[in-house]
Amino acid sequence: MTGKEAPIGIFDSGIGGLTVFREVYRNLPNENIVYFGDTARVPYGSKSPETVLRYSRQIVHFLKTCGVKAIVVACNTASALALDVLEQEVDLPVLGVVKPGAAVACEMTKNRKIGLIATESTVKSGLYERLIRGIDPADTVYSKACPLLVPLVEEGWTEDPITLEVIKRYLGGLLEKDIDTLILGCTHYPLLRGLIRKYLGDSVSLVNPAYETARTLERMLDELDLKNPSAAEPVYRFYASDSTDGIRRIAERILPDCMDFSVQAVSIEEY
Ligand code: DGL
Repeated sequence: MTGKEAPIGIFDSGIGGLTVFREVYRNLPNENIVYFGDTARVPYGSKSPETVLRYSRQIVHFLKTCGVKAIVVACNTASALALDVLEQEVDLPVLGVVKPGAAVACEMTKNRKIGLIATESTVKSGLYERLIRGIDPADTVYSKACPLLVPLVEEGWTEDPITLEVIKRYLGGLLEKDIDTLILGCTHYPLLRGLIRKYLGDSVSLVNPAYETARTLERMLDELDLKNPSAAEPVYRFYASDSTDGIRRIAERILPDCMDFSVQAVSIEEY
């Protein structure tokens, strides 16, 4: 497949990026997609910028061997720590999830108080805050790293009372700051939307960067005249650097229309 029919490459540190895959395949139903989850080296959220950049470069090399026409960095942590370098190095359009998420949060907030929940590395990078304040210096961003939420989602406890208790513990401080908008700044958090909404109520708007990224990707493909016009059945290919079980488990839950789901293992250190 070449040109407009070439696939879009989406990568993440593991299974969470399937929330981005879901929005992309819903929004761009003609597109062929290659998904890579770095299940051997997850989590990225506690790793250094140097390590996350090295991993991201290897994955980009792998995706290029799959002939992708554009790359979506589905991982918030990799978007925060590696995207600016990838954009300079890669001769393909590259899109991350942080910019689209930050832009929509600025549009949504009325009282200019925005909450961010993300991994430790994303929070530490300060990128969401810089982008938001670059759009509107009147905005204040209150950030909270929530490392326990990733394993709870991977365990499948997305509706569990224990997870709700953890959410209360993490988000209590943000509620006290009177935020009216909360960015779900990690691939896994959209799967906790129900519990987060239960705790925060309706007065706080939730921003899912995955949703905004899919829309930005569509605009980008339109502008570059890269959208696939073919109405043929799209092809989805899934790869992982280690265990393929988690990807299959989450895919069965959130991508029920993706039939014949199979995941191939890749030795990513070779790229
Ligand atoms: N995919 C990561 C993110 O969105 C979460 C999991 C990890 O720490 O690798 O930041």
